[in-house]
Amino acid sequence: MIKTSTRHYTSTLFALFIGAVLIGAGLVAAQDTATPSPTPALPTGTPAPVDLTCDPAELMNQQNALAAQLQALKLDTSEDAGQSLDKLFKVGEAYQELALTCGYIPADAATRTVGKDVARILKTLDTVTGDPINGQVLYNGDLGCAGCHLGDAPIAPPTEGTYTRIEEERLKDPLLAGYTPEQYLVESIIEPAHYLVPGFQNVMINNFGDRLTLQDLADLVAFLESQDS
Ligand code: HEC
Repeated sequence: MIKTSTRHYTSTLFALFIGAVLIGAGLVAAQDTATPSPTPALPTGTPAPVDLTCDPAELMNQQNALAAQLQALKLDTSEDAGQSLDKLFKVGEAYQELALTCGYIPADAATRTVGKDVARILKTLDTVTGDPINGQVLYNGDLGCAGCHLGDAPIAPPTEGTYTRIEEERLKDPLLAGYTPEQYLVESIIEPAHYLVPGFQNVMINNFGDRLTLQDLADLVAFLESQDS
């Protein structure tokens, strides 16, 4: 009697254990095969008017090329699903890049990093208002601008008087013919090696385009424009 009930108890436990394993496996399987949520709807709303800044025919060519890449993905049958998804993601980014190249200014432009295309940056810079006080905080903070540009170290031009020097010296250099002060400042920060201030080496960090948002850059420019002593 006792023996039987122990065996019964043991087999019940065993059954429970198997059940738990199966449920667990089911959960894992359910996670593995999670279906994407329904096709995301494209956001509605009227975008700001855009000045098309690229050749319309070229825009169509590139859009067709991207559409062909999407068609070729064969996402549902691919054995290399990870690679397919990676490509899907990158085609999406390429579409965004194409739109940006052609003059599109996204609603969240102020909080996006600016990238390295100075001409494109200059077209979007007017959409935000620079705050010189915040620019000074950035300049003296982690970006390290002040580390090179302040003090008596002869490694970089001093911060004080930057704007005056731009107007009275830099923009008189034939190499910078036609530049506006804002253009010079943006290029100096995003692409420092493009024009080297005479007497200085090419040592300024050149990855600020990947680190600064449009708002950060506008703030830095506003701060440097205030250096007119
Ligand atoms: C590692 C040192 C270093 C750091 C960090 C640095 N710079 Fe510079 N910067 C230089 C040097 C050297 C030059 C002069 C050579 C040249 O034109 O690139 C220069 C030139 C400039 C100029 C042109 C100044 C003029 O008198 O014409 C500006 C504007 C400028 N930097 C802004 C910045 C800002 C803003 C930051 C931070 C986001 C920064 N720099 C960080 C070294 C540095």
